[in-house]
Amino acid sequence: MANSNAKKESRHLKRFHYTVDTAIEKPFNWKQMLRLLQYLKLYAKTYLPGAIIAMVISTIVRLTVPILVGKVAIDVAIMDRDTTLLTYLVIGIGVLYLLNYLANSFRIKWVNILGQNVIYDLRQYLFSHVQRLSHRFFDTRSAGSILVRILNDVNSLQELFTNGIINLLMDMVTLVGIIVILFALSPQLALAVVVVIPIMFYISTKLRRNIRRSWQEVRLHQSRLNSHLNESLQGMRITQSFSQEKENAEFFEGVNSGYFHSFRNAAKKSAAFRPLVDLSDAVGTIILLAYGAYLILLGEENGGIAIGTFVSFAFFLGMFWEPISRLGQSYNQLLMAMASSERIFEFMDEQPNVKEKTNPYTFSEMRGHIEFDKVEFSYDSKRVALQKVSLEMKEGQTIALVGHTGSGKSTIANLISRFYDPTKGKVKIDGIDLRDVSLDSLRSKISVVLQDTFIFSGTIMENIRFGRPDATDEEVMEAAKVVGADDFISRLSNGYMTEVEERGNILSAGERQLLSFTRALLANPSIIILDEATASIDTESEIKIQKALKKLLNGRTSIIIAHRLSTIREADNIFVLENGKVLENGNHVQLMNKQGKYYHLVKSQFQMLDAI
Ligand SMILES: Nc1ncnc2c1ncn2[C@@H]1O[C@H](COP(=O)(O)OP(=O)(O)OP(=O)(O)O)[C@@H](O)[C@H]1O
Ligand SMILES: [Mg+2]
Repeated sequence: MANSNAKKESRHLKRFHYTVDTAIEKPFNWKQMLRLLQYLKLYAKTYLPGAIIAMVISTIVRLTVPILVGKVAIDVAIMDRDTTLLTYLVIGIGVLYLLNYLANSFRIKWVNILGQNVIYDLRQYLFSHVQRLSHRFFDTRSAGSILVRILNDVNSLQELFTNGIINLLMDMVTLVGIIVILFALSPQLALAVVVVIPIMFYISTKLRRNIRRSWQEVRLHQSRLNSHLNESLQGMRITQSFSQEKENAEFFEGVNSGYFHSFRNAAKKSAAFRPLVDLSDAVGTIILLAYGAYLILLGEENGGIAIGTFVSFAFFLGMFWEPISRLGQSYNQLLMAMASSERIFEFMDEQPNVKEKTNPYTFSEMRGHIEFDKVEFSYDSKRVALQKVSLEMKEGQTIALVGHTGSGKSTIANLISRFYDPTKGKVKIDGIDLRDVSLDSLRSKISVVLQDTFIFSGTIMENIRFGRPDATDEEVMEAAKVVGADDFISRLSNGYMTEVEERGNILSAGERQLLSFTRALLANPSIIILDEATASIDTESEIKIQKALKKLLNGRTSIIIAHRLSTIREADNIFVLENGKVLENGNHVQLMNKQGKYYHLVKSQFQMLDAI
């Protein structure tokens, strides 16, 4: 069963694309570490000195107590039956432990504040940076993989910054301290006992890493499960309408059993861990007992040891495991953090392709005169999207772009908003090369309405106001009335205050379209671009919104990309595109008389569509 399930899963994995970033370990990289530490700078002065002092205090206490017990309490006070000294020792050790408690509390508190602040800054910075990146960046990455970096990778640095670094220092100092003290107390016994260190180290690094990898695999399977479930639920209507429930359930079984097996494997490995630790502990204890007892019997005068030394040894041996184990943990954590930080820095080093000049031109008023001067453009090196496009769209004109799918209509719109820069040639608005203008001032004067309107979760009011955040409620409603969206909005349960979920599931495609018209109108742009924006509005509604559209387009340069003749016919100038080239242009009558490409397009395509 397992085998067939595994096969099933791998088959399905090919079918589905999962956006899971797996944590791959990278070797330690000092340069990267230093860069990471830069983020500490802001807070280091306030919190780090205190945390380090606290760390030193608690390390000293932990190393002093065993010596006090062994070498002073047993070898001196008990041997000499000195009760006053014993009393002082008990009180002294009590005070030391209290000090240790205080030092630890403050250290943990400070280090946490430090780490949380650093992580907050890092996440905030990363998000703002990603927001600034150009379309090209998002073309090549899924939202899921960006999400993973901003959430998971930043989180995995959190442990490092909160406890990781300080613990690493503390454990190293403690371990070296213990070893030095042991050798000072009795070199022979120390030599015999430290053999357990490599064993423990092996367990805590290699074995633990192995276990961690298994858990990583579990997480991978879990996210497969999640993403499959998510996809299935979202696509449930399609699944049911194509009667694919059985296939889908089989696939689910594959993913589910993958998760099951990986979990069992990881749990098995984890269960073996603790007994092994105990075993290596036992080896140390046996060596100490056997060889230590022999050395005690030998007597100090013959090169042996005192009982107190033996007791100190026993104490220290008991303390071995903790720093070694944590060192192993911190080391693994460090490697994970390295992998995460590498991916974070990769994003941070990503520069927007569309760059602003240092002193860009700001449009205070935009007339809306657009010019393409021998523009060439390609999204990737393989295909050319626009070839030597030269065109002029005059202020206030209504322009239509027509052409087959993939001919470059949306690309022209993208270049006007400067989501991309042309490879060659210039795009100018009001005579100014877009490379010289500020992106903010450019885009705030242009509204783009797409076929697939994006609705954010929030109220209808908030969604419309996205077009101009400082608009009053009255202005929002006024805009909705002009476009004709007011009708359906007032029929919703809470009117303008109705909450819509992300992507606006409760609205019909046409209603979403009307919302985006309202959004565009509210922004009061100088240039408006409608990319297939009227495609999802039925003919009857379209007649209704033709008037609204006229109001929306009135007094602005409007670029309409549409398949409907009724929308195109009225345009002042129509550009006919093919394979990224402008074939011809003119108004409807001129182009029809010419009997060229447009004429044929109208004859074949538009008539069919308009006949519906
Ligand atoms: N983000 C992108 N990355 C790579 N290639 C792209 C991208 N967007 C579009 N293209 C390619 O560029 C060419 C022009 O595409 P464009 O979107 O401008 O076509 P269109 O005329 O708007 O088509 P449609 O009518 O289907 O919307 C096509 O060959 C398309 O495959
Ligand atoms: Mg398009």
